[in-house]
Amino acid sequence: MSRLSTEIQKRRTFGIISHPDAGKTTLTEKLLLFGGAIQMAGTVKSRKSDRHATSDWMAIEKERGISVTSSVMKFHYRDFDVNLLDTPGHKDFSEDTYRVLTAVDSAMMVIDSAKGVEAQTEKLMEVCRMRNTPIITFINKLDREGMDPLDIMADIENKLQVECVPMTWPIGMGKRFRGVYDRYRRQIQLFTAGKAMRGDEKGILINDLNDPRLDEILGSQADELRAELELLEASSPLEREEFLKGSQTPVFFGSAINNFGVRELLDAFVEMAPAPGPRETVQRMVEPAEEDFSGFVFKIQANMDPAHRDRIAFLRICSGTFTRGMKVRHHRIGKDVTISNATIFMAQDRTGVEEAFPGDIIGLHNHGTIKIGDTFTAKELLQFTGIPNFAPEIFQKVVLRDPLRSKQLQKGLLQLSEEGAVQVFRPLMGNEIILGAVGVLQFDVTMARLKNEYNVDAIYQPAQYFTARWIDGEKKQLAEFEKKLRANLFHDAEDHLTYLAPNKWNLDYVMEQWPDIHFLKTREHG
Ligand code: G4P
Repeated sequence: MSRLSTEIQKRRTFGIISHPDAGKTTLTEKLLLFGGAIQMAGTVKSRKSDRHATSDWMAIEKERGISVTSSVMKFHYRDFDVNLLDTPGHKDFSEDTYRVLTAVDSAMMVIDSAKGVEAQTEKLMEVCRMRNTPIITFINKLDREGMDPLDIMADIENKLQVECVPMTWPIGMGKRFRGVYDRYRRQIQLFTAGKAMRGDEKGILINDLNDPRLDEILGSQADELRAELELLEASSPLEREEFLKGSQTPVFFGSAINNFGVRELLDAFVEMAPAPGPRETVQRMVEPAEEDFSGFVFKIQANMDPAHRDRIAFLRICSGTFTRGMKVRHHRIGKDVTISNATIFMAQDRTGVEEAFPGDIIGLHNHGTIKIGDTFTAKELLQFTGIPNFAPEIFQKVVLRDPLRSKQLQKGLLQLSEEGAVQVFRPLMGNEIILGAVGVLQFDVTMARLKNEYNVDAIYQPAQYFTARWIDGEKKQLAEFEKKLRANLFHDAEDHLTYLAPNKWNLDYVMEQWPDIHFLKTREHG
């Protein structure tokens, strides 16, 4: 096998989807510990608060503890090179969170056993659906009382339309939590409360569930386990093909904080999750093992320090080998650029790396010329697809304090929307500009950047819209639709017609009234 193919086969690029508080940070930390990327538990968490000490990023980012270095966490585990891309939640939740998922090859879903599927997980899963991203599920906090495991699986199946295949099965929960039974290795992993497992304790092999040792170890819980496992016998086995197309998810149970079940999860993950695969472009499919370099930008992070207005564009490599100092073509503007100062994200050592491979993320310094969705290649003209704008869910009106700055406002907003920082909508009637975002942080960033970079001081007021839908349809229908619903129609920054719905009822009603019009939740860049 060529060097490039070997490097590709070793790579696993993934993100974690979860609702805030399900345990993403705790799990990330344990994964990094296994990967040797951090030495001590508590590192990831404490970085949340004191990262700003070393970071030179914008004030707002400092305040919120967002940092470029934590956007991509690379670690080695066994023979694998793992890239964990951060999917910010809580207040940092933004369109970027969604877009990160367009750059991964698989995802890990963390569910709080007491809560089941929560809103943010549902939203993120919707994005995974767009590319049929394979999902591995970790049901966390088994050391606490939670929902019945069968109910959790039913909840996942109903809300997320993915069939659950339990790989491990919990033995009790909360105070009665004794550990998990690995259905494939036929092993029991015992849990000892209060003892943080290192993850390398050997399991107890129980080949035959009628083995009396099971009763010795688990007492009355042995029969419960037998009965539950018997119930599972009726369910389908895991089929690799079904997993790879996102229709089945292997399910693991554990407790991240106790480092219980995490090693099993990580082992299964590196073995099962796909290596970087082919990616679609407008022109053709691109295979990762093609010699020529190619990649696309899925995220742009701004530095608000007025002294350095550079931004970092995060590029996912899709094919070929990247070497420092290499010349690549930026297709949208038809220019060749030498990437001499790209940052290659490695958890431990960011400076020493000279090359990167498909699945890896590199950071390009950007002075405002790079847009979300831009493709870079060695030479061939290509445009990767599937890096969309997502329907905003919160809206604000922009009112200028100084009407003479209107030109600067337009320019700033165009630039910011091109970078994917915020979405901009201009009404068909009137001239009030509406900003749309998926997370509130996007407004804060927009406000600060308009002020610092474009010297535009504006007032922002909440706008009462529920969501946006991009509109498409046959010409005559469209003209009719435009005429009738003018009051709620806007053009986005790329002049695409968009309907802003004041509430859900209105959206449902309008969609029902106009069955031939397409109401799209995402729109591709281009
Ligand atoms: P997030 O990144 O998904 O938001 O979740 P995070 O890891 O911060 O975990 C949220 C809370 O859940 C934390 O408690 C964390 O300690 C706890 N937690 C994570 N895994 C487990 C688990 O397996 N069992 C139990 N019982 N709790 C777990 P916190 O009190 O909010 O924060 P902290 O004071 O512990 O930092």
